[in-house]
Amino acid sequence: MSKLWGGRFTKETNKLVEEFTASISFDQKLAKEDIAGSLAHVQMLGECGIIPMEDANKIKDGLLSIKKMLVDHEVEFLVEDEDIHMNIEKLLIEKIGPVGGKLHTGRSRNDQVATDMHLYLRTKTTELVKLLEDVQQALIGQAKENVQTLIPGYTHLQRAQPVSFAHHLMAYFWMFERDKERLLDSLKRINWLPLGSGALAGTTFPINRERVAELLGFETVYPNSMDAVSDRDFILEFLSIGSIIMTHISRFSEELVIWSSQEFQFIELDDSFCTGSSIMPQKKNPDVPELLRGKTGRTYGNLIGLLTVLKGLPLAYNKDLQEDKEGMFDTVETLEGSLKLLAPMIETMTVNKDVMRKVINNDFSNATDIADYLVRKGLPFREAHEVIGKIVLFAIQSNKFLLDLTFEEFQEFSPLFEDDIYTVLAPEHVVAVRNSFGGTAPDQVMKQIKLAENLVTRSIRR
Ligand code: ARG
Repeated sequence: MSKLWGGRFTKETNKLVEEFTASISFDQKLAKEDIAGSLAHVQMLGECGIIPMEDANKIKDGLLSIKKMLVDHEVEFLVEDEDIHMNIEKLLIEKIGPVGGKLHTGRSRNDQVATDMHLYLRTKTTELVKLLEDVQQALIGQAKENVQTLIPGYTHLQRAQPVSFAHHLMAYFWMFERDKERLLDSLKRINWLPLGSGALAGTTFPINRERVAELLGFETVYPNSMDAVSDRDFILEFLSIGSIIMTHISRFSEELVIWSSQEFQFIELDDSFCTGSSIMPQKKNPDVPELLRGKTGRTYGNLIGLLTVLKGLPLAYNKDLQEDKEGMFDTVETLEGSLKLLAPMIETMTVNKDVMRKVINNDFSNATDIADYLVRKGLPFREAHEVIGKIVLFAIQSNKFLLDLTFEEFQEFSPLFEDDIYTVLAPEHVVAVRNSFGGTAPDQVMKQIKLAENLVTRSIRR
């Protein structure tokens, strides 16, 4: 059989053109969705009497047997049939004869391809929410073990104030929680059905778009056929959300790389998540978090790529739109691969509580607390800040930390110091008194974990 659109042509397509314009090498990933869309469409054609129900049933049977062939890897896609839509239609006609040609009544590849991608992203979005929840569960698991584990909290990557390690981990929980919300919210827009818009202007057949929407589980139909076939903002939205998720993964990965360095040694990644060096036998490299960080770049690229494709396109369909797919698949696959690795990597990492403890004992991250101490004794904060600055300088010069200073030394800087200063400066105390809602005190962190656990189990039930 020649090309499905071959009627008005007098020459064969140039081979290079055929290869250049074909999308089957990548859009075959939409095969399942393409068949699902066709099944609903043909059912509606039959119900509306646009084609005889008997023909609709033959087409449905044909489509179902192609679906089975796909599962059994018995289908060979051909570049000369250009894309997944024409490959499947051609297979159908080969299978059931000319009646298969009735399937394309009242639709176009333009509304068909848009529908396929809506269906694809709907499934992937839901799956990604589950994968994000696996990561959240892993974070909760480690957090629960480390409510009392203290690490320096940093600003400017300089030690600032001690925090519970659980608090630090849970910060990522909330980032992923918002990512999940973003994905779930985007479903509202993914659930608009383009099918029934025809090439751009609608169709002359008495179709029932609501019925197709119902069959495919869409919430509503696009009210404007030109918008329906031209819209790719549902993909842009997905790529934006995907980029944000990868940004969060990347920041966390960066911390894992730093924390597992010889200089920090706060954590150790499990051997099964690291690789060695071909030349330096002592090396254990954190390749996984490095790659997670590195792969973030391609997801940004996919977003910018599609934004650029769309920015100058006149309505309605233009072949440029075929460029929407590879980036979308790539971001989906990058997210899936990344989230699947992240969860077990978090679960299996070892937290070096002793190292963290030593670090906390040997720093000035309790300095804010002596300032607050003097303020509570009546000194204005600015003056207190000045006094403590001098104490810190003195301590550095004497090779000591604040808790090593003698009571007499404290008194020389201010007569307001009493011997309770040693309790106030103990790291546990420093953390425990940050007991405001959302703060790092163990009580608050526990509350936060409870809240988080409820959220994760609630949305799993959803
Ligand atoms: N493969 C095409 C794409 O992905 C399908 C739509 C083709 N439509 C057309 N009028 N050429 O965009």
